[in-house]
Amino acid sequence: MKIVYSSSLITVALLAAGVTSASVSGCGSDIPSAFPNPGRSKSLRLPNFDREYRLHIPANYDKNKPTPLYFSFHGATRDMNEQESLSQFSNPEFNPNGIAIYPNGKNGLWLSNPNADTSRPNDLDFVNDLLTHMEEKLCIDPRRVYAAGKSNGGGFTSVLACNATVGRRFAAFAAVSGAYYDTDQTPGVGPCAPAKRDEGYPFLEFHGTVDVTAPIDGNTEKHPKLAVIDILKGWAERNGCGANAQWARNETVFENPLVKHASWDCQGKNGIVQHYREGENGHCWPLTVSNDDFINQGSRCPLGKYVFNATEYIFDFFGQYQLNP
Ligand SMILES: *[C@@H]1O[C@H](CO)[C@@H](O)[C@H](O)[C@H]1NC(C)=O
Ligand SMILES: *[C@@H]1O[C@H](CO)[C@@H](O)[C@H](O)[C@H]1NC(C)=O
Ligand SMILES: *[C@@H]1O[C@H](CO)[C@@H](O)[C@H](O)[C@H]1NC(C)=O
Repeated sequence: MKIVYSSSLITVALLAAGVTSASVSGCGSDIPSAFPNPGRSKSLRLPNFDREYRLHIPANYDKNKPTPLYFSFHGATRDMNEQESLSQFSNPEFNPNGIAIYPNGKNGLWLSNPNADTSRPNDLDFVNDLLTHMEEKLCIDPRRVYAAGKSNGGGFTSVLACNATVGRRFAAFAAVSGAYYDTDQTPGVGPCAPAKRDEGYPFLEFHGTVDVTAPIDGNTEKHPKLAVIDILKGWAERNGCGANAQWARNETVFENPLVKHASWDCQGKNGIVQHYREGENGHCWPLTVSNDDFINQGSRCPLGKYVFNATEYIFDFFGQYQLNP
């Protein structure tokens, strides 16, 4: 007997099984001609979506080998090009094997920033569709998709994790000098309601103690920013640590300037929430050599360079996590 399925019936069946169009894989297909060649980066526009992004494909890309994908979100008023330079997710010394992607904000901002454009399709829709597009066009490993960002882009990684539809597609999150607006008071973002999942939501945060742009202890301006400790405790709680849980460890990793590394163990997941408290550092992306933050934002980054590379720690952290098949 020959069974003929209509494509709409198949779609309905797949949706019922919780499978989205993201399960269409680009594995086995050549890199689309509009995309950069391996080892290169290129700025692109998402089809049918008036949004830009910058894409980097590693030199060793193999169309038959499922490859991790790393998102990197820029800070407020910055852009995708600056974020590639700042985070160095395209630098093979930090990221030899993964695809890096730098989405561009609408008017330089991301959701949760009180001035961000909240009209639909919004940033969450954009990221969700961009990820689907990548999975359709390239050989992405859907279990190894990660999000990191700076400042407003760092706060946005937490907003992303909080969204049950998009956040569940990312295995782990990292924020550098995150600006954490109270999402209950900013338009366009609902309360934090991540999808339940066994893997939890690994969250890594970096913050300078003399950051005046996104102060580590928060502020009470017209659009208040929350204290970093509340964000960390929030993710510890959502990872099953219970309300207001104290860190399990808080170790000195550098003496001068003093860098403390705090981590939480929740539900047997050791270090699922981690934090680097960067003594004497400002609103900057830590790197042992100078970078755009130190050069162009010198007044916010008094030291000129730092004692470790945040990007190195981010890739080590991400490397410990992947979603269940
Ligand atoms: C990161 O920091 C270390 C110092 O610990 C430095 O030696 C190394 O070259 C840096 N890594 C990269 C990829 O630049
Ligand atoms: C979460 O993101 C999805 C996908 O873009 C979007 O449709 C949905 O409205 C978002 N949910 C909330 C509560 O913002
Ligand atoms: C870790 O220790 C430092 C003091 O050395 C303290 O200021 C900080 O609050 C502690 N906890 C965290 C999560 O940073």
